[in-house]
Amino acid sequence: MGFSADWLALREPADRAARDSGLAQRACALQPATPVIVDLGAGTGATRRALDGLLPAAARWHLLDNDPALLDAAADEGGAQVRTQITDLNQIDALPLDDATLVTASALFDLVSRDWLAALIGRLRERDLPIYAALSYDGQMTFEPALDRDLDVVAAFNGHQRGDKGFGPALGPDAAREAARLFQDAGFQVKLAESPWRLSPDQADLQRELMTGIAEAAAEAGCAAAEAWLAQRLDLLAEASGYIGHVDLLALPPSACDNPAAGAKSNESLSGRPEGTENA
Ligand SMILES: C[S@@+](CC[C@H](N)C(=O)[O-])C[C@H]1O[C@@H](n2cnc3c(N)ncnc32)[C@H](O)[C@@H]1O
Repeated sequence: MGFSADWLALREPADRAARDSGLAQRACALQPATPVIVDLGAGTGATRRALDGLLPAAARWHLLDNDPALLDAAADEGGAQVRTQITDLNQIDALPLDDATLVTASALFDLVSRDWLAALIGRLRERDLPIYAALSYDGQMTFEPALDRDLDVVAAFNGHQRGDKGFGPALGPDAAREAARLFQDAGFQVKLAESPWRLSPDQADLQRELMTGIAEAAAEAGCAAAEAWLAQRLDLLAEASGYIGHVDLLALPPSACDNPAAGAKSNESLSGRPEGTENA
């Protein structure tokens, strides 16, 4: 699947529908009149578009990514309120956070390692900054109609997700919950909310790309059934639906926790699973 502009555009409507609206609203409600948002791994600017309308009109965005083509697209579309910067997110100490009032990320935390996250949390703590990190894959994938090979392929895919995606061993399916633990240990108030894709047969293009990417990763992870599984899944596209689990996270620094406007006095986290899902 990679991070091509085509793939990001294909997944954006599903991401938009999946985001937990309460968490996004809360992240934005805590912002000052002229917010400066630093978006990590911004791609073409999907997070900015998702939060458009929830933030004051004076909001400015600083979009960071290491892919110049994606940032060019983001700049063309974003206009005057957007600044882009080619950045290797591994250089955590160099992240431009001086003017920031909020840090955001989408579909990024499942790519990063525990060490990377710990270093980021150190910088956010130092600058007393909140972070809204949406759409971390959580390891749950189920499909209708189900196939015998689903469990093997999903297990292999989840193993692949824990490989190195450029930041050291990736947190993969553990990302949101591990992030919640690390942020809480650093004194942040954390809220998690589920944000699954609920795919229907009318999203055949997205399903086709997704299934192909899953099969490629599963095969790389040694799953012998991946190719046959993909052929079966592609045959079923016209009738298939799917649940792909994600989790959104909002972490508020200790200073915001002292502020009644932050809206909660204690750490809160996910409780329970949506009905009809099972661990992959
Ligand atoms: C899954 S995409 C998400 C993009 C965007 N946030 C969205 O939701 O559409 C991950 C993004 O992280 C960027 N990325 C990956 N590794 C990076 C690195 N080391 N430094 C900067 N950006 C990186 C990719 O170029 C890509 O745009």
